[in-house]
Amino acid sequence: MKQLLLTGASGFLGWNIGHYTVNNPTEHASNWNIIGTYLTNPTNIHSDIQGQSLDIRNKLAIDRLFNTFQFDGIIHTAALSSPNHCAKSPKLSYQINVKGTEYLAKKAKEYSIPMIFTSSSQVFDGDHAPYSETDIPNPISIYAEHKLAAENAAFEANPNIIILRMPLMYGQANGKTANFFGEWLGKMQNNEPLFVFTDEIRTPASGQEAATILFQLLNSNIKGELFHLGGGERLSRADFAFKMEKVFQIKNANIIPCLQKDKIMNAKRPKDLSLSIQKLQNAINFQPKGIDAELKKMLNF
Ligand SMILES: NC(=O)c1ccc[n+]([C@@H]2O[C@H](COP(=O)([O-])OP(=O)(O)OC[C@H]3O[C@@H](n4cnc5c(N)ncnc54)[C@H](OP(=O)(O)O)[C@@H]3O)[C@@H](O)[C@H]2O)c1
Repeated sequence: MKQLLLTGASGFLGWNIGHYTVNNPTEHASNWNIIGTYLTNPTNIHSDIQGQSLDIRNKLAIDRLFNTFQFDGIIHTAALSSPNHCAKSPKLSYQINVKGTEYLAKKAKEYSIPMIFTSSSQVFDGDHAPYSETDIPNPISIYAEHKLAAENAAFEANPNIIILRMPLMYGQANGKTANFFGEWLGKMQNNEPLFVFTDEIRTPASGQEAATILFQLLNSNIKGELFHLGGGERLSRADFAFKMEKVFQIKNANIIPCLQKDKIMNAKRPKDLSLSIQKLQNAINFQPKGIDAELKKMLNF
């Protein structure tokens, strides 16, 4: 069994990776034993994953972890992932998102192991979608600036890493991680007003789709590449909310379509971050099943 270092195991994507490995034991993750890290929320880690405390700002702590375990690969999802939080705490964002990522890339080089870094579609300005990997990024928030700086620093430290730019991700987690999906579901079910943008366009992918792609890339011989992930459907956040309402058969949801300009936010938000997945599809076997199908699967969670 190979050992995987999963940073950010207590986050939305980290939990989904744990859930994927348990529910698809014979698929792409079958040869990996996961050591998953958390910073402040040990109980958010999927119950079948071995948890380890780690602050990726602490190089000595990372060194200690590598002395304790013999890792065969890294999936790096740990991040300060809220654009609003990054806008309020840019130094913290830089230390975690840029420096932490750079050091992990160095460790992957030192130990000659594969590493996948989850970056973000937010590196683009949102005015020239759909975006492919050859399009030039133009970040419009601190979070996005730092994700792009992390990509560059990590590639420079270790040209063999894979960078996967993630789209908006949806799906269930353990009910504790902060993700828009759980919040929206709760508001819809409780008949609370849910304001959703009609002018913010995304190509969302489910957490389970993201997990399967990460393991496919990890098991491949691909090195030193940048890929975009998307769920294949391009729609507004408002349309996504109406899909949730329909599939989950929620009665009396109070969905209120609005525009980005109607809401005051710390960080600027790109309008259209649709990602082309052609390059990813040419590299691995990936045929998105669509949002309705992914949502329906969640009825059986
Ligand atoms: N979710 C999305 O829609 C989306 C979209 C595009 C890109 N992404 C990217 O995808 C990745 C995963 O996102 P996510 O939604 O799963 O994020 P998340 O739910 O906010 O989880 C972040 C994780 O990072 C950990 N963390 C935070 N600061 C840390 C530090 N200093 N040292 C070590 N760990 C630390 C957190 O630990 P604790 O919770 O234990 O404190 C948590 O496990 C991130 O790289 C994010 O930028 C996400």
